[in-house]
Amino acid sequence: MEKMDIHSWSRPDLLRVRHVELDLDVNFANRVLAGSAALHLDRISGDELILDTRGLAIRSVDNAASYELGAPDPILGAPLRVELLPGATWVRIHYSTSPQASGLQWLDPPQTAGKLHPFLYTQSQAIHARSWIPLQDTPAVRVTFDATIRVPNGLRAVMGAEMSDNRFRMPQPVPPYLIALAVGNLEFRALGERSGVYAEPPMIDAAAYEFADTEAMIGAVEAMYGPYRWGRYDLLVLPPSFPFGGMENPRLTFATPTVIAGDRSLVSLVAHELAHSWSGNLVTNATWSDFWLNEGFTVYVERRVLERLYGPARAAMEAVLGRRQLDAEMAGLREPDRILHIDLSGRDPDDGCTLVPYEKGALLLRTIEQAVGRERFDAFLRAYFDRFAFQSITTADFLDYIRRELPNPVPLDEWIFRPGIPAGATEPHSGAFERVESGWPTDTAAWSTQEWLHFLRSQDLPDMARLDREFHFTESRNSEILFQWLLMAVKAGYEPALPQVGPFLKSVGRRKFLKPIYIELMKTPEGQSMARAIYGEARAGYHPIARVTIDGIVG
Ligand code: BES
Ligand code: ZN
Repeated sequence: MEKMDIHSWSRPDLLRVRHVELDLDVNFANRVLAGSAALHLDRISGDELILDTRGLAIRSVDNAASYELGAPDPILGAPLRVELLPGATWVRIHYSTSPQASGLQWLDPPQTAGKLHPFLYTQSQAIHARSWIPLQDTPAVRVTFDATIRVPNGLRAVMGAEMSDNRFRMPQPVPPYLIALAVGNLEFRALGERSGVYAEPPMIDAAAYEFADTEAMIGAVEAMYGPYRWGRYDLLVLPPSFPFGGMENPRLTFATPTVIAGDRSLVSLVAHELAHSWSGNLVTNATWSDFWLNEGFTVYVERRVLERLYGPARAAMEAVLGRRQLDAEMAGLREPDRILHIDLSGRDPDDGCTLVPYEKGALLLRTIEQAVGRERFDAFLRAYFDRFAFQSITTADFLDYIRRELPNPVPLDEWIFRPGIPAGATEPHSGAFERVESGWPTDTAAWSTQEWLHFLRSQDLPDMARLDREFHFTESRNSEILFQWLLMAVKAGYEPALPQVGPFLKSVGRRKFLKPIYIELMKTPEGQSMARAIYGEARAGYHPIARVTIDGIVG
């Protein structure tokens, strides 16, 4: 096997880590995780084990002849080269993390819901696991793990794993980007037989209300694509600086509090992260160029869940919103970035995270579904999840498989290796949205969040004052609607809403909200000074991943 993941120093074709034993102290005062990771491995050839690290201080390596930390690469971090003893099948690395670790966010009490206790959480996708665990940080490698995590009194540690008082065990093999830990003042509330939610005490009631359909969602995916294979499915509500909407850590989805709208209108996020329990966590992209296998399949399954639970009209609205956003984003992308199988040479894999893998990927699957019929496509997907369960696959593996099972449904090479949307793509339609577009609305009492979003995005030359007077967008409590409105307000220079922009950008850290607003602000001189002033205050509270993004915009 060739070295195929360009985002890892490791050589899993020569030596393969199979199991990790973590033992870590969580030190909030120094913002450091310190302890050890024992790696159990299969030897295939040679004595040199190469691990990925970023910013780790290595204290010693047990059961090794020698070790050496190489020079750091700005994207990949530093290789840790360990010379194994003859025949040795494990090593133990004693290490500590850097306070600036890219995969950790350490929060002071004022940045939490409860304001009294600090909070720590990890975000390992795409290549940040290496900033808190030395390992073969490639999705081509899967490991089981167990962990002992020591935390200060009064705080609780949770991991995406089986848990019993600060001891953790993950019996199913997972890629490193799915290893996750959080520590805070957390309370738990059951949602169903095998599901529940963790949140800070002030958030727990609202979270339990919002996520009440979780158990039904698990049942919906199982009915279509086979058993949920991870035991429990719990959610963890993070503080607002979490840079993503959600992260599908196995057994424990991490979620932004901005989905807690009070009316369950944004729970497509739960459907999405849950769907990853099949597409992504069970069948995993082997490299980050194959990321569309994770996200495109997941968006497809997410919409199928919405359709089963809330009906075709709701699923159609989400599909149209996605299709429109895809076009809007693609217009600003370079041609090579409009390709599903993206070339990431010399780039950070986080750069590939546009709507292309998500929405173009889902559109491809939708188009295949239309071509072969839903029944055949569902049987195909179910068999695909079975065939590749607990494996990591490339786009070529997917192509081999589908060409055998469903010959020539659509021009796959064009879809996957060429930019843009091929002719013959299915076009999603929403009757509800056609009514939204049919003139100034008179009866909006029953409008959903999705209709409001479509309404706002359909305004070519928005009459901001009239919109605000009639519908009070500046006061919206729904994060998606408020985001859309503030983005339009910045674009239009709508003065009455501008005072809300600073508070919004300082209170949330979700990159999807931050990035477009900062980009829009930077287009005018007044906007630039506003962006700099806001960012100057907000930056310290953003996640390292979000800082990299916004540094690139505001400078
Ligand atoms: N796995 C992703 C988040 C991610 C992608 C983290 C790439 C790091 C690198 C997660 O499943 C996701 O797609 N989240 C979306 C929400 C979803 C409803 C589309 C997000 O965070 O916006
Ligand atoms: Zn996803």
